[in-house]
Amino acid sequence: MVATLLHEIPLQGGDVTDGVVRVGETVRRPAGSFTPAVHSLLRHLEAAGFEGAPRVVGMDELGREILTYVPGTTGLNAMAASDRALAEVAVLLRELHDATAGFPLGTRGWQAGSNDDSAPEVVGHCDVTPDNVVFRDGSPRAFIDFDLARPTTRLFDVVTTLRHWAPIADPVDCPALLRGLDVGARLRLFCDAYGLGARDRRRLLDLARLRFHRSYDVMRARAATGGGWARMWAGGAGQRIRRAAAWLDSHEDSLRGHLV
Ligand SMILES: Nc1ncnc2c1ncn2[C@@H]1O[C@H](COP(=O)(O)OP(=O)(O)O)[C@@H](O)[C@H]1O
Ligand SMILES: [Mg+2]
Repeated sequence: MVATLLHEIPLQGGDVTDGVVRVGETVRRPAGSFTPAVHSLLRHLEAAGFEGAPRVVGMDELGREILTYVPGTTGLNAMAASDRALAEVAVLLRELHDATAGFPLGTRGWQAGSNDDSAPEVVGHCDVTPDNVVFRDGSPRAFIDFDLARPTTRLFDVVTTLRHWAPIADPVDCPALLRGLDVGARLRLFCDAYGLGARDRRRLLDLARLRFHRSYDVMRARAATGGGWARMWAGGAGQRIRRAAAWLDSHEDSLRGHLV
């Protein structure tokens, strides 16, 4: 065990999970009640031939999950903010969703979160932020951090992803690289690359609004559990959701024009 600890390299970039480390070609992450469900999903994805997710190695002597380390970079940069990257994230999300076909959607144990009212169609990642996408050779190659994965609709996962990547946010809360973008055009680009149907496009902004309201309540409840969620809440996460919802309301008409 001492030998293991000596070679642990802390991984930064996430804002929730304390104690994510790299050990050789693996990462060790604290496990939760949701870990068995997530591992069964990751094993399904491996069997389905989906390459855009880490593989499950097992559990270590400290009760942490062991996943393969996915080489590349995470986080926002000029390349990740580009329209090309946005379209490629959409394609990767489509591939993920398609690869969950056949996975039993009745599987229990997922981390609770806001969701769509419609019946689940896929297992969504539900947290596709720039910190949770690994880029390599200029393109998004894998999603990591499946802690919030759960059965949902395709559209709900699309909306969650667009919240961070379009982004659907008040510009005052956006990193400079994501400010001043044509958000409506990026919504359409993402929907086109994903291959989202007309009905889902028409419902996209309504679901985004519903998600904001539900996410606010979910985040507040999670913050009460302490740790990284409490830090996010204390750092203004709730206010950012409120501002994003207000921004969506005031830009709804022009955004909708890109989705018909
Ligand atoms: N399997 C992995 N392969 C490569 N890098 C990883 C992996 N898991 C985590 N990381 C790195 O560690 C950071 C934080 O890990 P993450 O699992 O996203 O934790 P959090 O729950 O805090 O967001 C990620 O943004 C990424 O840079
Ligand atoms: Mg993360």
